[in-house]
Amino acid sequence: MKIAFVGKGGSGKTTLSSLFIRHLAARRVPVVAVDADINQHLGAALGLDEAEAAALPAMGAHLPLIKDYLRGSNPRILSAETMIKTTPPGQGSRLLRVVEDNPVYDACARTVPLDDEASVQLMATGPFTDSDLGVACYHSKVGAVELCLNHLVDGPGEYVVVDMTAGSDSFASGMFTRFDMTFLVAEPTRKGVSVYRQYKEYARDFGVRLKVVGNKVQGQDDLDFLRDETGDDLLACFGHSDWVRAMEKGRPPLFDLLEGVNREALGTLREAADAAYEVRDWHRYTRQMVHFHLKNAESWGNAKTGADLAAQVDPAFVLGEPLPATPQPV
Ligand SMILES: Nc1ncnc2c1ncn2[C@@H]1O[C@H](COP(=O)(O)OP(=O)(O)O)[C@@H](O)[C@H]1O
Ligand SMILES: [Mg+2]
Repeated sequence: MKIAFVGKGGSGKTTLSSLFIRHLAARRVPVVAVDADINQHLGAALGLDEAEAAALPAMGAHLPLIKDYLRGSNPRILSAETMIKTTPPGQGSRLLRVVEDNPVYDACARTVPLDDEASVQLMATGPFTDSDLGVACYHSKVGAVELCLNHLVDGPGEYVVVDMTAGSDSFASGMFTRFDMTFLVAEPTRKGVSVYRQYKEYARDFGVRLKVVGNKVQGQDDLDFLRDETGDDLLACFGHSDWVRAMEKGRPPLFDLLEGVNREALGTLREAADAAYEVRDWHRYTRQMVHFHLKNAESWGNAKTGADLAAQVDPAFVLGEPLPATPQPV
């Protein structure tokens, strides 16, 4: 299943994604972690030192390889150049699985060892420079993630966890509809909950499952505030964590030593994510990627590529359905 952590900068997206990833990995379930935040810190939060984090490959730099691999022999996609971040898969496209070897993972994923011989596969969009924050390049970096999510056939018990911003970019592209569960990390402040309101507004029309995860919650007053502001959307709360603080000092304690309340909150997150998978609707998932593709084609894609990108849509294709069996040579 696919899970996003979103929220305002500094709310704790990276911290809580990394704890959730550790929680899953400790239970030995397959996890692909994706750093798609403007501030690329997920590697460090998973224990990489500065040099190791800097050596992570950037998905944004491998976009041509990613496009070429995913388009496979799809006759509707004539070249990698005409493939934009929203181009949906169709007959002939190559799909990704959470656990497999493929050229995309070879180029972009690295194994990060965790406690107790657990590990996780980490992919990162790559650092954003000042010039990236002008719209186009930011799109192309996060676009690599969107393409991968749109070509991913993930099953229950397999997790892709994306650390992401709550910025307007994800709304334009459709990225925010790509998840079984979106955890909106909010501190108990007016700014924290205003990001929630904006996100909820966008999410409503697309049936996005959104839950609020309180962070840095200290005491009843904080809890009451979040409950008043977010109601039933409030799923769980994390308090200040000495474990996190020790890790940030470069002295990571064993994950087992994470505070009980925070461990409990992680369990609640996982249960909510697992429950969301059960109502996954592949047809709707495919329809939504087509919807956003047509929107992007019209607003900039056709002009940029000089092609009619609506023709890339394979009307009969539904992601997640088993592909027709190819006859095996005897
Ligand atoms: N529950 C927590 N306990 C202690 N420190 C925290 C907690 N959550 C976040 N922090 C600290 O707050 C800062 C911002 O968190 P971070 O996860 O980087 O935010 P974001 O990814 O949303 O920008 C970091 O220094 C982080 O260690
Ligand atoms: Mg972050």
